[in-house]
Amino acid sequence: MLFKDLKPKVVDILHTNSNSITDRLHAVCQLLSDNIEYYDWVGFYFKNGDKEELKLKTYVGEETDHVIIPFGKGICGQVAVSNENFIVPDVQAQDNYIACSFKVKSEIVVPLFKDGENIGQIDIDSETPDPFTDKDERFLEFVNLEVAKIL
Ligand code: SME
Repeated sequence: MLFKDLKPKVVDILHTNSNSITDRLHAVCQLLSDNIEYYDWVGFYFKNGDKEELKLKTYVGEETDHVIIPFGKGICGQVAVSNENFIVPDVQAQDNYIACSFKVKSEIVVPLFKDGENIGQIDIDSETPDPFTDKDERFLEFVNLEVAKIL
């Protein structure tokens, strides 16, 4: 499905107030994973209270050991401090990378801002080499802006 067709579905899911925030975030992960062929693992990490670490809130895909990620560690931890999108076309070429599954070839992490503060991120792993473009960045920025509205 095209990003432009997914956007209204993301909005519908997030602004359906009867479900918990975690359930709504999970439904967004499911929507993205089901409809974008190269999105194999989709999850949301958030800053864990006052700690300098990320905590996995919800995800769709293979189970991961990396529920807690210290700031600065891996692609996710780097985005927590850089405040910038990070596209990794080839995870094996990265020094500071935390492997979740040998099948993963590439990754994109886009920070999530609330009132100008980097409070979390959406993380996508792909089993396809080098699939992410600026279109993924713009789409995931849109998703995060919509998520921020319900937090
Ligand atoms: N690869 C990430 C770790 C999280 S998993 O992708 C679920 C990283 O390097 O931060």
